[in-house]
Amino acid sequence: MELVFATNNKHKLEEIQNLLGDKIQLLSLNDISFFEEIPEDFDTLQENALQKARHIYDKFKRNCFADDTGLEIDFLKGAPGVMSARYAGLNCSFEDNVVKVLNELEGAENRKARFRTVIALILNGKEYFFEGIVDGEILTNNHGTGGFGYDPVFRPLGYDKSFAEMEMNEKNEISHRARAAFKLVDFLKNQ
Ligand code: IMP
Repeated sequence: MELVFATNNKHKLEEIQNLLGDKIQLLSLNDISFFEEIPEDFDTLQENALQKARHIYDKFKRNCFADDTGLEIDFLKGAPGVMSARYAGLNCSFEDNVVKVLNELEGAENRKARFRTVIALILNGKEYFFEGIVDGEILTNNHGTGGFGYDPVFRPLGYDKSFAEMEMNEKNEISHRARAAFKLVDFLKNQ
């Protein structure tokens, strides 16, 4: 069976393809010759993920799924949330976003945060959602050089290092995206 993953992020494709094994073949947006930007302009991760999946399903009538992730910080009332990619402005860098978050949390005692991923799947016209969460806290400065995004300032609960200090495999076992992907894979294997 072939399944479109509405992304061109090689890392994400590889991660989920590994979990799926060889019975399900993932196709990227490039693989189906789709080269447009899909808007992500809703207020929730669920709506954004669904919008991306519907966009592809409506156009190609192929089974597909899409993901959307946000970092939710309690002290910032859930921000950056759906704005995580562009928190410091359009075309900002990961570093800009991290600096903005650290500034806004300066002096804050409550540094609790979580990464949340929602995957929206459209299978034979039916819509399904899978959520993955990893709880943790925002550190007071950068730790480590691995990963991407907010990894240098996010320490998952129960660990003494940031995501950016972990080996990729270690992060991929516990990450928000992996947890959502495990649920997706379980579901697909039972179909
Ligand atoms: P996306 O929905 O996967 O594109 O994620 C949106 C934004 O959330 C990214 O641009 C990153 O800033 C942040 N993000 C998503 N996943 C991670 C992660 O695993 N580590 C750190 N930041 C992440």
